[in-house]
Amino acid sequence: DSSAQQGNAQARVLVASNRGPVSYAKAEDGSLSVKRGGGGLVSGLSAISAESTGGDGGGAVWVCAALGDGDREAARRFAGRLDPADTGGQSVRMLEIPAGDFADAYNGVANSVLWFVNHLLYQTPLEPSFDTEFERQWGAYERYNRAFADALAAEAAENATVMVQDYHLTLVPGLLRRLRPDLRIGHFSHTPWAPPDYYRMLPDAVGAEVLRGILGADRAAFLTRRWAGAFADCCERLLGADVRTDEPTGELLVTLEGRTTRLGVHGLGADAEFLRERANREDVYDRIASLREEIGTGPDGEARRALVRVDRTELSKNIVRGLHAYRRLLDDHPEWRERVVHLALAYPSRQDLAVYRDYMDEVSRVADEINSAYGTDSWTPVVLFLKDDFARSLAAYRLADVALVNPIRDGMNLVAKEVPVVSDEGCALVLSREAGAYEEMGGDALVVNPYDIADTARALHEGLTMEPSERTERTRRLASAATALPPDRWFLDQLHAL
Ligand code: G6P
Repeated sequence: DSSAQQGNAQARVLVASNRGPVSYAKAEDGSLSVKRGGGGLVSGLSAISAESTGGDGGGAVWVCAALGDGDREAARRFAGRLDPADTGGQSVRMLEIPAGDFADAYNGVANSVLWFVNHLLYQTPLEPSFDTEFERQWGAYERYNRAFADALAAEAAENATVMVQDYHLTLVPGLLRRLRPDLRIGHFSHTPWAPPDYYRMLPDAVGAEVLRGILGADRAAFLTRRWAGAFADCCERLLGADVRTDEPTGELLVTLEGRTTRLGVHGLGADAEFLRERANREDVYDRIASLREEIGTGPDGEARRALVRVDRTELSKNIVRGLHAYRRLLDDHPEWRERVVHLALAYPSRQDLAVYRDYMDEVSRVADEINSAYGTDSWTPVVLFLKDDFARSLAAYRLADVALVNPIRDGMNLVAKEVPVVSDEGCALVLSREAGAYEEMGGDALVVNPYDIADTARALHEGLTMEPSERTERTRRLASAATALPPDRWFLDQLHAL
């Protein structure tokens, strides 16, 4: 009831995101097991708990959605508030959104529409048709956002700070401001933002509602200046908002109907301390040994070179064109045959969506094609790994000679930042100019246009032939650029700015 909610309204810092810091799996016997996630938000919120809430984390609350059946069961069992024993002491409120609404909001709107538009993925034959199905999904997205806004309004102490994450929750800042004008509200987009001509593909009212929703925040932040600029352009062109640059800070200010939202830019870096510690554990050494066996030795008895990629199997990651570029390398430079192995770690993602399942099949099909066309009794050109395994990712990072990061578009891309941090002997980085990481790391990477297969093949060759001393030097500089803004600072900077 509302008096109980008022009594609980203690949180001084709140984070809201679709995916929370933990997930639950339900076993046959009905028991629940918990898995804790990693990533920037998790370490960021721990830092906040320690600094701004007196060290006990008591004043910070994370609001997230129950994703699968295990989560739903846990949310019910714990009446929404998870057991601190499961969360490492963090206060987590997990919302149970009705299953149909969740599927429509998450799969239908967030992942099939907002993700697609901001990554420019709507290309023939994937252009959208917005009709009755989308209208139903959009209604669900509104309800799902409202459920978050209601929960945050109930949890937040007077004048608290709320940090809303990503494209799942674009309407929350606007809704929350109406419920609780006392709050300081921030929104962070972890994705790119589309330019107006592309963004206009959305139904007009929907496009406007998303922009207005985010403009409900005091501060809307992005990973790069480019994405912040595109958001401002959309507000100007589609809403008629006024956009100015704030002179001392260089930040953009967007004013609509008398209210101004400041656009911040915070490039999230790799968590060096965590990665280096994790990459030195036993399980990673086991994986290195088995990957070395897969890689094997070439005709001259030398260890083969390792070309590595690590991604969720995600259309924006451009895995298929990466395989075509590798094939082109083997054609243009037959000297690499038998002397290089492409380790492609392509982990399943968003498998509820047919287009992702098809993409996964396509990746396997093209890898098989390359293996049957070029493979020999002693050499498998492409080795695909389709089962998510973080220890294996770290092992691959450590031994990679060349890393391929060629997304069509990417908010940042942390793989590009993690590889140089843990690399054993230096690794050449082939990097798409359309990844956010390019803004910080372009200087020492081999930069490619992700659509240009010939160009990508050339960069792979350049990476494979780079002098060891140059490779080491570049990797050292890439690692320092990659760790310039560690996740705890990334979070605290935003909190202070708010
Ligand atoms: C992107 C988004 C995150 C999201 C992640 C994984 O990085 O910015 O918000 O959590 O993808 O996607 P998933 O749909 O599995 O949560």
